[in-house]
Amino acid sequence: MPEYKPKTPAVVDISKVDGSPYPRKIDFSTDKSRYKTSKQTMGDPLINYEGKSNPYIDYQSIDLLLSLQHPRSEGYDEMCFYVMGQVKEILFKGLHFELFNAREQIKLDEINNAITILERSIEYVKFIADAWNILSTIKPEGFNQFRDYLGTASGQLSFMYRHVEFILGNKSEKMASAHKNVPHVWPEIKKNLETPSLYDEVIFYLNRKGHAISEAVLDRDWKETYKSNQSVKDAWLSVYREPSNANLIYKLGESLISFDEQFSIYRWRHYTLVKKIIGFKSGTGGSSGVEWLEKVTSHQFFPELWEIRNELS
Ligand code: HEM
Repeated sequence: MPEYKPKTPAVVDISKVDGSPYPRKIDFSTDKSRYKTSKQTMGDPLINYEGKSNPYIDYQSIDLLLSLQHPRSEGYDEMCFYVMGQVKEILFKGLHFELFNAREQIKLDEINNAITILERSIEYVKFIADAWNILSTIKPEGFNQFRDYLGTASGQLSFMYRHVEFILGNKSEKMASAHKNVPHVWPEIKKNLETPSLYDEVIFYLNRKGHAISEAVLDRDWKETYKSNQSVKDAWLSVYREPSNANLIYKLGESLISFDEQFSIYRWRHYTLVKKIIGFKSGTGGSSGVEWLEKVTSHQFFPELWEIRNELS
């Protein structure tokens, strides 16, 4: 809708919002207290609140959240781009939380728990990839109306996305270094870069279960992206000789490859969307754009799980 200048309804007076990022105090409730309240209200929802807020707003600081959308241009499509960008950041945060905890469970040999968490992680990735459906309604002329206002801002600078890539083993000191000057972000990025990934933990687990894993994999530079290794491939081949529900490691392998499959779809959809919107123009983040994206789009986190497919009967 390039010819139409949007009208933005002011749903919140942002000058009156408590800007603190810390959680606000709200009352605790129990089955008993909720029952008592519903008796008092004769079954109707509560509507009378004291002060200048209500518990729904305060539980998640919703008024603050909804004060953070500031398109910079008069281009109609920028609000859509802005909102979807923020939604994706929150979803990356949710996904990273799950992956972090899946890794914790693998460290403890709690593979059933890790599989349950991976199931949710897969749904997250599908949902994040579906967000491209909304963004793909933006046409080149609509995007061009606000693109200049991004300056050199680009998704490649998303620290939340980088956390997701790093915890999955796609490390890069170079991409991490973009956050070196951000003191409230850098320490955790550095830590994630230097810590064994979820897949490294899976490999330690395979080793604990008696599969002979090469020393070069068990003690490597964690800042490097994981690369395929024959001993890990052999371990998976031996696991896949018994492809049954009773074989927990096989089930873990299948969850991991399904995750990788969905992440590839996510990458591919970003790549095709970018090609559709800006063609082969350079990116705002300084890269050649689609040409650069083509290289990163083919990455897979768990290479041996793909490679063994040739050899399964
Ligand atoms: C809808 C229009 C979009 C276009 C045209 C676009 C374009 C691009 C381009 C050209 C790059 C390469 C780096 C550079 O900027 O030079 C890139 C990277 C990236 N974009 Fe987008 N993007 C769009 C939306 C988004 C959104 C909404 C997100 C999610 C927050 C996102 C996440 C990323 C990420 C994470 C990278 C780095 C990829 C990697 O490191 O593997 N993009 N994008």
